[in-house]
Amino acid sequence: MENKPIYILAIESSCDDTSAAVLCNRKRLSNVVATQKIHEEYGGVVPELASRAHQQNIVPVVHQALAKANIDKKQLSAIAFTRGPGLMGSLLVGTSFAKSLSLGLNIPLIEVNHMEAHILAHFIEEENTKTPTFPFLAMTISGGHTQIVLVKDYFNMDILGQTLDDAVGEAFDKSAKILGLPYPGGPLIDKYAQSGNPKAFPFPKSKVGDLNFSFSGLKTSILYFIQKNVKENPNFIAENRDDICASIQYTIVDILVTKLKKAVKQTGVKRIAIGGGVSANSGIRKALEEGEKKYGWTTYIPKFEYCTDNAAMIGIVGLLKYNEEKFTDQSITAKARYVINS
Ligand code: KG4
Ligand code: ZN
Repeated sequence: MENKPIYILAIESSCDDTSAAVLCNRKRLSNVVATQKIHEEYGGVVPELASRAHQQNIVPVVHQALAKANIDKKQLSAIAFTRGPGLMGSLLVGTSFAKSLSLGLNIPLIEVNHMEAHILAHFIEEENTKTPTFPFLAMTISGGHTQIVLVKDYFNMDILGQTLDDAVGEAFDKSAKILGLPYPGGPLIDKYAQSGNPKAFPFPKSKVGDLNFSFSGLKTSILYFIQKNVKENPNFIAENRDDICASIQYTIVDILVTKLKKAVKQTGVKRIAIGGGVSANSGIRKALEEGEKKYGWTTYIPKFEYCTDNAAMIGIVGLLKYNEEKFTDQSITAKARYVINS
């Protein structure tokens, strides 16, 4: 059993990326992601359009994943899929597809929690990437999630804190929208922030206690700040773009790092693994480097392809569950609200 290669086909369709991956043991053989461009013109994900696009994409994406991995579907050991959390219509596409394929091929079916997958993505085998040892703190930061989790083992995790309103990526994107930047604006804020002064405009930080987050107040204060200044000077945004972006980024990163410090203090755990699209942010990366020097943290950032929504991260959970024979049956249904460990 130990030496026999395990091939997992994984499917992810929780939001606006249709993805399929093939893993051979912990190695990723392929990881195909079809990002739905259609949402850009609406400034955010439109659920109905997302599920329709998943239906169109899923067959070609799975075919490509198998072809790139150079394996036949008959070689597959099991199928893993995202059960939730996510948009119900989107989840249903991946869930039904995975169920039918497992039935057709007569191989085990494995359900995966998307949030656990963001965390366990760190265990995909990659050269030049270090893997955290247990226990560690995982911070998942993306357009859909903001969570700090204490990871005691693969399937033993405690949520220490999470956002009470917007996700951190949304805070970036909504701020960018106020500045008239296209969706998703997070990467642009990061880009312009490089040449700005982070202390130019102080924005208030939310006062949520414990390890939870709140970003809606920040968004409102940015909106009022911009409206007030544009009234006085119609060119205010154009003249101060870089400073505004640097100040927004500084505030958001400070909120994240303050909570991380608190989580380290509370748990005594100094290994910090991050994931989610916002891990690309240069401000957060710099802050983590500083944390290594100043506070003795060890930080882990997976390859960017495993940070954003992708099926390889679903595949690694599939493999870990396969090893423990954690299979599901055909009665399984998608779960839009699906808490880690539940
Ligand atoms: O993980 P992801 O691709 O999709 C989900 O939301 O699940 O994350 C996308 C989010 C968007 O909000 C995007 O603006 C943000 O990550 N993002 C960034 C950067 N790159 C991506 N935010 C700030 N700085 C970046 N460099
Ligand atoms: Zn995600």
